[in-house]
Amino acid sequence: MSEERIESILVQVSKLSSMRPNCDVGLIGLAVMGQNLVLNMVDHGFRVAVFNRTYARTKSFMERCAVEPCGSNVSAFETLDSFIESLKRPRKVVMLVQAGAATEAIIQAVLPLLDEGDVLIDGGNALWSDTVCREKELAGKGIHFIGSGVSGGELGARFGPSLMPGGSKEAWALLEPIWVAIAAKVDSDTGQPIEGAQPGEPVTDGEACTTYVGADGAGHYVKMVHNGIEYVDMQLICEAFQLMKELLQMSPDEMSVTFRGWNEGELNSFLIEITADILQQRDYGDEDHFLVDRILDAAGQKGTGKWSSQSALDLGSPASAMAEAVFARCLSAQKDERVTASKLFDNPKLPPVTGEQKELLIAAVRDALYCSKICAYAQGFALMGEAAKEYGWNLNFANLAKIFRGGCIIRARFLQKITEAYQKQDDLSNLILDPYFTGQLKERQSGWRKVVSLAAEAGVSCPAFMAALAYFDGYRSATLPANLLQAQRDYFGAHTYERTDAPRGQSFHTDWPNPMRPQQKI
Ligand code: 6PG
Repeated sequence: MSEERIESILVQVSKLSSMRPNCDVGLIGLAVMGQNLVLNMVDHGFRVAVFNRTYARTKSFMERCAVEPCGSNVSAFETLDSFIESLKRPRKVVMLVQAGAATEAIIQAVLPLLDEGDVLIDGGNALWSDTVCREKELAGKGIHFIGSGVSGGELGARFGPSLMPGGSKEAWALLEPIWVAIAAKVDSDTGQPIEGAQPGEPVTDGEACTTYVGADGAGHYVKMVHNGIEYVDMQLICEAFQLMKELLQMSPDEMSVTFRGWNEGELNSFLIEITADILQQRDYGDEDHFLVDRILDAAGQKGTGKWSSQSALDLGSPASAMAEAVFARCLSAQKDERVTASKLFDNPKLPPVTGEQKELLIAAVRDALYCSKICAYAQGFALMGEAAKEYGWNLNFANLAKIFRGGCIIRARFLQKITEAYQKQDDLSNLILDPYFTGQLKERQSGWRKVVSLAAEAGVSCPAFMAALAYFDGYRSATLPANLLQAQRDYFGAHTYERTDAPRGQSFHTDWPNPMRPQQKI
């Protein structure tokens, strides 16, 4: 064979091999979470193809990749077609784009380019019911759809998030190696997160914070409830902060030390840890002022807490602390009205609390926080229990608590206790009934009650502490005034009632304006 001929064959082979799909996974959406998830995947040995709607962002991401150790394992594409062509089969395409219209637009654009057996993964905060519809629609076309919760913010995505995938088991088997590799890792016995030898070094041993959650929208549902719990967790910490500020006149520095101390004990969590950091932060260029004091007290939200609360209402699952945490954000956003109203009412004046009393009150606030947190998680897990029944998901609560132990925003030492509670009893109807949590509530409830009554006396708004306590008291009451309520309903609307001395399910009606007439059995 002539040299020219060999040369031309080599050129053809090289062209063919450069066109041969060589990427293990593709990612669409190079905003903060997408970029960091890509780098996490390449750290773990995957070759990743990337695509973004605007190519300028892709280009700037490739500049970032150029200085990352494994950045050369990222391939950038300007068109969706070439991006899809670069993927090994069955193709795995992860989307990390805004929930709603943006996600839908990407799905519709990608769909014609995929083949039977390919897997499309939505890692955004999509509404779980949208995921149910999408999974069904794509399954009809032979394409797998996984809706996966991805929690942990920027650093979680980069070095190990908590991942909550839902979809078919077949699809999960295809995604599992990637998800297990990139998820946060925890010590299987203690539940404590495992850090890399160097900061940011990928961790390969330990238990991965991901598990198959369930069919269709189960993963996104669980992520939604994770966020609902996140809302309460954050609100409770904020209420503790407000009480220490208003009742004890503590400075942010002093509170930072207190939170840091709490982080050493049963309240140890990512959110407590970042709160301690935030409180000691001075304003940039003005060391005499704390940054937190200069941040406007009007909270934002993207909707997942609201969706959780809406679902709780739909399912009749009393997630009152969760709903209060959402409303607290709404009320905070009404800044101007609050300023107007604040001028109309004086705050009740309480004598200053000092010395030993102050220490006792700080301990009571810690107990109020812990008890309320138990109730918030009890509500969140009970909500997932109701959803599992309603939507036919076989949720494993011990495994869900396990994957919340590392990587995600609500990661906390306390989740090991929840894991153990469900490992002991997988059909536990409410965390409050688990002996560990019952014991904690018994031991700490007096501090909780003291804090809530003091807050009421002093006029400090603590909706989540109060809602959690009202839930606890309602849940542990053998009798509630719903007998009177049923009578009222029957009086004005003939809605009927059950009797304590008749079998459940048998209904009665009284002609209330003529009480001498016999009750009717319906
Ligand atoms: C996570 C977070 C994340 C969420 C933000 C903002 O688990 O990493 O829950 O998914 O989007 O926390 O949520 P809000 O804007 O609603 O507070």
